[in-house]
Amino acid sequence: MAEYSDELLDHDYDGIKELDNNLPKWWLWLFYLTIIYSVLYMLYYHVTGIGYSQDEQYMSEVDPNFVRISAADTRFLGVLPEYHSPLFTPRQEITPFRLLHQSGEVEQYVEMTPESDTTEYVAFTEPARIAAGKDIYIRNCAQCHGNQGQGGIGPNLADDYWLHGGTFSDITKSVIYGWPSQGMISWRGQLKPDQILEVASFVQTLRGTNPPNPKPPQGDLVAE
Ligand code: HEC
Repeated sequence: MAEYSDELLDHDYDGIKELDNNLPKWWLWLFYLTIIYSVLYMLYYHVTGIGYSQDEQYMSEVDPNFVRISAADTRFLGVLPEYHSPLFTPRQEITPFRLLHQSGEVEQYVEMTPESDTTEYVAFTEPARIAAGKDIYIRNCAQCHGNQGQGGIGPNLADDYWLHGGTFSDITKSVIYGWPSQGMISWRGQLKPDQILEVASFVQTLRGTNPPNPKPPQGDLVAE
């Protein structure tokens, strides 16, 4: 301890004296490191927003298609994100699009729907992907659409008639968004994007396979 110049202070409380020691260097460095760390932490999570907050980490775990809200006008002083209550749930599946107002540019967020989603989805053709799609289908879809796509609670997926369109993109969108009011749930939260494409690619191969006990056609004839 020779390097520290201990100093006996001029205090005396009922015989108790006080030493003014220098803080050990290793301790000081730990302290400085925590300060540096906290600055980096704040920049990473709160100022630049590169890191996901706990809410966002949770949302991205339960919904593979989670998109973060990043409206420019929800920032306090233009830097820190606005405070949200812990019960705040970022809306899922949002596409920013801009509306030009006379007063300036306003950013708006809308819920994606099969109508607003204009993505041209492309089917997998690799046999391994189709086989993976079949596994997913048997586990998740067969109870309503039948083991071979012949239909049941849900419509026949092996015929040429479709309620919501029969292109690959239409099928994919039926799986992504579902038709919740008609009993077909949205699979966004359960299947990863690749799995959705796999199962839709498999569904596409069912077309024209004429499985036994088919459910009568529903919807419109889609000739392809
Ligand atoms: C709980 C039952 C149920 C499950 C499970 C289910 N579906 Fe459906 N599905 C339906 C119903 C009911 C409809 C018809 C919706 C309507 O009438 O608009 C439908 C519609 C569809 C359509 C559109 C058909 C058309 O004619 O346009 C596709 C494609 C589809 N489902 C694929 C799937 C896939 C792939 C899975 C598994 C990931 C799946 N479904 C799981 C009940 C189900």
